[in-house]
Amino acid sequence: MLNRREFFWLRHLPHAAMALASFYTAGALAQAGVPATGATLYVQRTAVGGAQVSCQDCHGFAGTFRDLRFPGATEAAIRARIQSAINGNAGQVMGTYSTWTPQQISDVAAHIQAAVTPPPPPPFAPLPTPAASPNSVMFGSTAVGSTSPTVNVLLTNSASTAITLGNPFVVPGTGQVGDFRTAPVASGQTACANSGRLEPGSSCSIGAQFVPTAGGARSATWNINFVGNVPAREVPLQGTATGSSAAPGTSPAPGSSAVAPSNAGAGALGWLNLFGLLALLGVSRSRRR
Ligand code: HEC
Repeated sequence: MLNRREFFWLRHLPHAAMALASFYTAGALAQAGVPATGATLYVQRTAVGGAQVSCQDCHGFAGTFRDLRFPGATEAAIRARIQSAINGNAGQVMGTYSTWTPQQISDVAAHIQAAVTPPPPPPFAPLPTPAASPNSVMFGSTAVGSTSPTVNVLLTNSASTAITLGNPFVVPGTGQVGDFRTAPVASGQTACANSGRLEPGSSCSIGAQFVPTAGGARSATWNINFVGNVPAREVPLQGTATGSSAAPGTSPAPGSSAVAPSNAGAGALGWLNLFGLLALLGVSRSRRR
């Protein structure tokens, strides 16, 4: 049986303990911080050096920034660190927080301690670039002003996801890009068109033609572009042109009927339209004279 005195102590002990606790936490003893409150405080902006800023504005996400990443540190250790930064007016700014209550500092410390590294930005791993076969094209010797036979370059998507071709998907890279062009899109090769969709595991082919404008060794690169994070495929093109520079508007040599699809489809791709247009302009201009 409890006597009166014992009963009194039982009733008042908790209060006494609380009073003691608050006395000590204001001083040396750490009091438990509330991570959720600390999370709010961490992003709450206050006037620091004339600007409205938060811990996060200066230190980054808790758990990521070098200064506020204290791996394995206890809440008390983090709390002490913040406190000494405040006491020492670290960075000539931390003293601003000297008005914070011990509880606020503990809350922020608890937040920093509990803060898990935020997930990295959604992985955007590059998809493998579709393979090109052959991966470079060597044309047979072709007379200046004529069109070589078409050489097909097979693009194969080895990724497990469909890959969308760019628009335009064949972009002239370096070199004598005007000496090469794509052939009209062959039937059944519709994926190999601007914005075409190359299903996983599927292939399509692009016809390449050599249309030398000057004699000698000619070379250029094409960049086959894709939508999204798919690196471009570079296709080097090479050919030897026989004969001298063609006069503007020269039509393909009559004997070159063995050569593949005519220029009719020169406009199969965006940038080739441009070349076609330039050629047409050249033709009409020379006709006018
Ligand atoms: C205006 C920018 C600014 C703001 C806002 C700010 N800090 Fe700092 N803080 C600094 C600078 C500058 C230093 C000293 C240089 C350093 O340590 O990188 C510093 C130092 C510290 C340190 C000491 C780092 C260490 O390695 O011990 C801690 C801890 C800290 N700040 C915590 C906080 C917390 C928590 C808040 C929010 C309540 C906060 N800071 C708000 C700029 C800021």
